[in-house]
Amino acid sequence: MDSQMKEIDLFLGIGLDDIHMLGICGMGGIGKTTLAKFVLDKISYQFDGSCFLANVREVSLTQGLVALRQQLISKLLIERNINIWDVDGGCNEIGRRLQCKRVVVILDDADQLEQLQALAGMHDWFRLGSRIIITTRDQHVLVRHGVDNVHMVDGLSHEEALQLFCWKAFRKGHPTDGYLELSVQMVSHAVGLPLALEVLGSFLFGRSEAEWKDALDRLKKVPDRRIFEILKNKLRWAAGTSEENISGCCLFL
Ligand SMILES: Nc1ncnc2c1ncn2[C@@H]1O[C@H](COP(=O)(O)OP(=O)(O)OP(=O)(O)O)[C@@H](O)[C@H]1O
Ligand SMILES: [Mg+2]
Repeated sequence: MDSQMKEIDLFLGIGLDDIHMLGICGMGGIGKTTLAKFVLDKISYQFDGSCFLANVREVSLTQGLVALRQQLISKLLIERNINIWDVDGGCNEIGRRLQCKRVVVILDDADQLEQLQALAGMHDWFRLGSRIIITTRDQHVLVRHGVDNVHMVDGLSHEEALQLFCWKAFRKGHPTDGYLELSVQMVSHAVGLPLALEVLGSFLFGRSEAEWKDALDRLKKVPDRRIFEILKNKLRWAAGTSEENISGCCLFL
């Protein structure tokens, strides 16, 4: 996180008296939402208001853009029951109320230009000095919206990946005696993707060496790209459930 913060700090240009829009981009499970929350936590004290708008893609489908916009303004102005009854009609309302506050807004997991237009449509909605951060899997959406900078999230280094895997598989930052080689092999299949490391590690927690070897043999037969798809779909299915259930998702192994 700290290494990624260096580029983000540079892109955000905190303190500069302009409006900056920053995109955080990368594949599913790479850590965009985690990074955005970390950034907000680090910088929000410097603003008059902040809002983390979660799951924009999903919420815009289930509740619509008006509900999201209402949520955004309510959070920024710390006011309940703000009534904005349609997406277009809300534009002036947003502008009028926000222009006196320097805010930081995170739009998490956006995938359509309309979402960005409805929630962060124009630079002059926000007071100078405000910052808008958008996380997405689709870089093209960011380009079309005209964000100022894009930070691409990289996978974890081998050392970081091994450490995360071990926290899940052994509840500590390094492998239990006799499991180093097996752990290294497991980690190589996740190629730095935190979500894959968490799912694999959780699945293997408390299992015998024979079960590890069996799982590894099965993993070797599945091409890497396919592993990601399976892990992501399974985890999405289990979202919000317990650790045991997430481990259970790995039954495909
Ligand atoms: N740097 C990290 N260190 C440890 N764990 C991480 C890190 N980044 C992400 N994770 C973990 O990986 C999982 C996936 O991360 P996250 O939800 O942020 O991915 P995402 O890129 O937002 O995915 P999606 O596109 O599906 O929304 C989370 O459980 C998170 O805790
Ligand atoms: Mg996310």
